[in-house]
Amino acid sequence: MDTLKLETAGRGLAPSLAVKTKCVMEDEILRLKGEATAALGEAGKEDLEPFRVKYLGRKGLFTSVMRQLGSAPAADRPRLGKLANDIKQELTQAFAARQEELGAGRGQGTATRLDLSLPGRVLPRGRLHPVTQVMAEVCAIFEGLGFTVAEGPDVETDFYNFEALNIPPHHPARDMHDTFYVSDALLLRTHTSPMQIRAMEREQPPLRMIAPGKVYRCDSDITHTPMFHQVEGFLVDRQVSFADLKGVLSVFIARMFDADTAIRFRPSFFPFTEPSAEVDIGCVMCGGKGCRVCKQTGWLEILGAGLIDPAVFAKVGYDPEAYSGFAFGLGIERIAMLKYGINDIRLYYENDLRFLSQF
Ligand code: DAH
Repeated sequence: MDTLKLETAGRGLAPSLAVKTKCVMEDEILRLKGEATAALGEAGKEDLEPFRVKYLGRKGLFTSVMRQLGSAPAADRPRLGKLANDIKQELTQAFAARQEELGAGRGQGTATRLDLSLPGRVLPRGRLHPVTQVMAEVCAIFEGLGFTVAEGPDVETDFYNFEALNIPPHHPARDMHDTFYVSDALLLRTHTSPMQIRAMEREQPPLRMIAPGKVYRCDSDITHTPMFHQVEGFLVDRQVSFADLKGVLSVFIARMFDADTAIRFRPSFFPFTEPSAEVDIGCVMCGGKGCRVCKQTGWLEILGAGLIDPAVFAKVGYDPEAYSGFAFGLGIERIAMLKYGINDIRLYYENDLRFLSQF
């Protein structure tokens, strides 16, 4: 029997082949080699697996050829067998090389190849820092009450930071405002109150302003960082009274915390206000029952305020008989701590995303 029939390999891709002599069989093996080599040369990445199945697979054309060798004349079998085997091995190597070339191999070397079909890495979406969020919230509440926003320099003169606010050299109030000096008369501002002076020098009443920004002090512990944020607020007009101050701050606290948050004014002292008050709210942690956060008092101090001292008006040339006003200053980090139950102020500035991404 000298007829060799090659089986059709997979999906009807290959034609049936009928060869009549050993020579024809050898020709057929060589033709198959030529065909496979050409196909491999043109193969794209997606053609590789079909190629492997068609020519090199268990049911592929070369396997078929080898199986049919049994029907070749015994004398020719070893030679034809070796030929078919060598070609199959050659093709297998060429296949691996092509795979490598197309960056489609499974083995080594492929990791370094650039695969443009890979989807891009999704960048995590950023968010606003909790201090920035609370700052924006505070500003929005006061803007809603008709206050305009003014910003001033972080590096401030001794005059604006202290003198004009009725804090002369050697005044004991300077003790709590130790800061970083650029020169004898230039320093990093310790509060946003200097903006009262800058605004009043520039404009005539009526004034309704807030001044948000960074402030600095020589302080560092679980409730103090050397840099923090404040919002200063002030209003100057005719016949402004303490009742106006209370009204504005009550609205602010109701909007910032809960509408039914308790609020109290305690007499205090600031050189630039008279009378002065410290404002407390009912503890947001325990609802006023007493806990560690409020040190069992049921109250949390959240800002300083008062009626603007006539001595300050005199510094900016306003007539204290004609005008009166109120001012207040609050710390943003502290408000954010109370709002979110944060127990260590330093967390804000460690840039740990596990913390920051919670807000
Ligand atoms: N500037 C004060 C501070 O940082 C806070 C303050 C208190 C501001 C009373 C005011 C005020 O405007 O009236 O300690």
